[in-house]
Amino acid sequence: MSIRDYDEVFALWSQCDGVGLAEGDSRDDIRAFLRRNPGLSFVAISGKKIVGAVLSSHDGRRGFLYHLAVAEGHRRSGVGRALAQRCLESLNAIGIPKCHIVVFARNRSGHQFWRKIGWEERTELRMMSKRTR
Ligand SMILES: CC(C)(COP(=O)(O)OP(=O)(O)OC[C@H]1O[C@@H](n2cnc3c(N)ncnc32)[C@H](O)[C@@H]1OP(=O)(O)O)[C@@H](O)C(=O)NCCC(=O)NCCS
Repeated sequence: MSIRDYDEVFALWSQCDGVGLAEGDSRDDIRAFLRRNPGLSFVAISGKKIVGAVLSSHDGRRGFLYHLAVAEGHRRSGVGRALAQRCLESLNAIGIPKCHIVVFARNRSGHQFWRKIGWEERTELRMMSKRTR
C-alpha cells in the first residue's frame, strides 16, 4: 500500500462495519504509519480497482494487523486470507515471530474468518486502553 491508495482504501474501510475508523486513520496519520512500517501494508487489486486492504506494523517484538477489508463483491475468494498471509510473511522476514489483531466482539463473521485461517482466539486476555493525554 502506498499513500496514493488512501482515498480508495478509506472508501473501502468506510463501507465495512467490522473496521473501526478512528483517530489515526486520517491521510496524514496513515502516511506516517506507512513511513514508519515500510513494506508491511498491502492492497489487493482487481482490474484497476482496489478490492482489499490491510495495514500491519510492529514494535520490534510483536506484529499488529489492522483494518483488513475486502470489497463485498470480492469476498470468499481468498483475498482476505492472502492479504493477512502477506503481512505475516513480511513480519516474519524481519524477525517478528508473532502478530496480534483486535476484533470487535460483535464481529462474529470476522471471528469465524480469523479462526478459519488459523488465528488463535485469546479468551484469557482482555484488551485495555488509556489515552496518553
Ligand atoms: C473478514 C473479511 C476480510 C474476509 O475476507 P475474504 O476475502 O472474504 O476471506 P477469504 O475468502 O480469504 O476467506 C478465508 C477463509 O475464511 C472463511 N470465511 C471468510 N469470511 C467468512 C465469514 N464471514 N464467515 C465464515 N467464514 C468466513 C472462508 O470460507 C475461507 O475458508 P475456506 O478457505 O476454508 O473456504 C471480509 O469479509 C471483510 O472485509 N469483512 C468486513 C471487514 C472486517 O470485518 N474485517 C475484519 C476486521 S478485524
